[in-house]
Amino acid sequence: MSTESKVRVVTTHVLSEMKHHGEKIAMLTAYDYSMARILDEAGIDVMLVGDSASNVMAGHSSTLPITLDQMIYHACSVVRAVKRALVVVDLPFGTYQGNSRLALESAIRIMKESGADAVKMEGGVEILESVNRILSAGVPVMGHLGLMPQSIHKFGTYVVRAQEPDEVEKLVSDAHALEQAGCFAIVLEKIPAQLGQRVSQELRIPVIGIGAGAGVDGQVLVSHDMLGITQEFSPRFLRRYHNLYAEMKGAFQGYIRDVKSQDFPNEREQY
Ligand code: KIV
Repeated sequence: MSTESKVRVVTTHVLSEMKHHGEKIAMLTAYDYSMARILDEAGIDVMLVGDSASNVMAGHSSTLPITLDQMIYHACSVVRAVKRALVVVDLPFGTYQGNSRLALESAIRIMKESGADAVKMEGGVEILESVNRILSAGVPVMGHLGLMPQSIHKFGTYVVRAQEPDEVEKLVSDAHALEQAGCFAIVLEKIPAQLGQRVSQELRIPVIGIGAGAGVDGQVLVSHDMLGITQEFSPRFLRRYHNLYAEMKGAFQGYIRDVKSQDFPNEREQY
């Protein structure tokens, strides 16, 4: 048997089995072919084409400006690189809230045009009609509760969510509603660790946290943040595995120096 044929392709069913066997799920963001290829070969389980592309790829201060066409462009680039991971694509702001028909059209465009495996949507009961319609078309949906960056203007701040009892109860009942609707997993962002653990224990579907503590079924980070390419974003939940900003800047400076000093190209680097 070749090494390639032994590779386990990650499906929503595999994620469910991972939860039930106690194997943690590792998820990171990807927006382009080259990064997606490295992530897939590293063995990531889930690749999220997040609308955080609006921040890290396009330089916006929020996730709101990114369009459906732009998300599909990123998703196509990622899907071309992936052999193993499950590829999930964020439905961007304004393409599903308050209009389930539009939601279905948006989800179908993502699935048809990019070849991704699933979509992710922010919100609870408010978006349930859209979630149901997308699910009934056979498109797997990942929910997203807690800090929801697409609603930043409603809350006005990126502080930890669900610290008051009424917000806790709403989050728990939203999580149950998403599970009952048929979502295959839920992301919980920036909430107390105890609450993350409670939701994970109460739900049968995997709960993947970003700043939701260690008691959930998996973790997700923005790749550019954990690689240290972004510098200004430093929440407590972020573990940086590298300082690529400094390394890349050093490499660029080296190239500039070599060009200016006429060290590059040398004899062996020309025809
Ligand atoms: O867009 C994104 O990167 C996300 C993660 C932070 C979960 O939604």
